[in-house]
Amino acid sequence: MKHAIKTGYKLLDTAFIYKNETEVGQAIAESVEEGVLKSREDIFVTSKLHSGFHKPSKILPAIRHSLNLMNSEYIDLYIIHAPWGMKPTEAESGADFPFTTATDETGNDIFDDYELVDVWAQLEKAVDEGLVRHIGLSNFDDDQVRLILSNCRIKPVNNQIELHPWLDQPDSVQFLLDNDISVTSFMSLGRIERTLDSKGKTLVDDAIVLEIANNHGKSPAQVLLRYQLQRGVLVIPKSATPSRIEENANIFDFSLSENDVLEISKLNKPLRSCHFKDRRPSKNFPKLWLSEPVYQ
Ligand SMILES: NC(=O)c1ccc[n+]([C@@H]2O[C@H](COP(=O)([O-])OP(=O)(O)OC[C@H]3O[C@@H](n4cnc5c(N)ncnc54)[C@H](OP(=O)(O)O)[C@@H]3O)[C@@H](O)[C@H]2O)c1
Repeated sequence: MKHAIKTGYKLLDTAFIYKNETEVGQAIAESVEEGVLKSREDIFVTSKLHSGFHKPSKILPAIRHSLNLMNSEYIDLYIIHAPWGMKPTEAESGADFPFTTATDETGNDIFDDYELVDVWAQLEKAVDEGLVRHIGLSNFDDDQVRLILSNCRIKPVNNQIELHPWLDQPDSVQFLLDNDISVTSFMSLGRIERTLDSKGKTLVDDAIVLEIANNHGKSPAQVLLRYQLQRGVLVIPKSATPSRIEENANIFDFSLSENDVLEISKLNKPLRSCHFKDRRPSKNFPKLWLSEPVYQ
């Protein structure tokens, strides 16, 4: 994380469930101490409400808990990690905020769904109390975003969704941008081996992506990230490799042509990798996903 901050990354994307909020706070504090950042204000932090804490009375305490872990007074953007609510495990080693969620005797998840507008109202309260500066969504389908838009006092500023050329979602992206909701692409690289076509190839092996990358003297990963930026979508590529952290930031010195963009958009399959099939029994599962081939 410190290497990313040194390289010039302006946003750190974390979540309670990633178990790295403490490290995020430490990386920021050390970067300030070392003069790489002037202050906490110089970096934007996104964190996420764990599905196990959707119970409205649990939400503000969960946010305060994340703030404690990060040793920060505020979170720049706090989003609902996913619309489905899960039953948290009974106190994990006595912790009020367990990382794990409960399963029944057959190993199936136990859901704990609340009205999404009630969950949202608590995020609005967190803004009122100054705990978070902006609030948003993740893994919400368009209908669920519409539900929040029609019942909110504070509009969601962002929806963080799986987006890459094999899951291009042009209509959802347009719908969100038309409603002034910024779009963040997670798995912009398909998380490499996580997203495979029928021949077992990854997005960075895709012949069209490779050809376009060669034409620009760039890597396939840089082309995949640039593609999202040029359609107005934010990217949060993850890498634990210093050279790739730098490579992924080095995408502002070239532009894809209209034809490149068109060719990449034609790769749409659609193929959702983060399909969360086991969450389908939740009453808050994104229903629009169910019409995609992966759910047939
Ligand atoms: N809201 C959600 O539900 C949700 C779900 C998934 C992810 N996210 C967020 O989105 C972020 C990114 O998504 P992701 O990590 O799933 O997928 P990703 O960024 O598409 O891919 C990460 C993988 O790509 C490799 N990689 C990175 N840069 C590369 C490059 N230039 N060339 C080749 N390989 C490269 C990384 O390997 P090395 O680390 O070994 O370099 C890592 O294995 C996550 O860190 C998380 O913050 C959110």
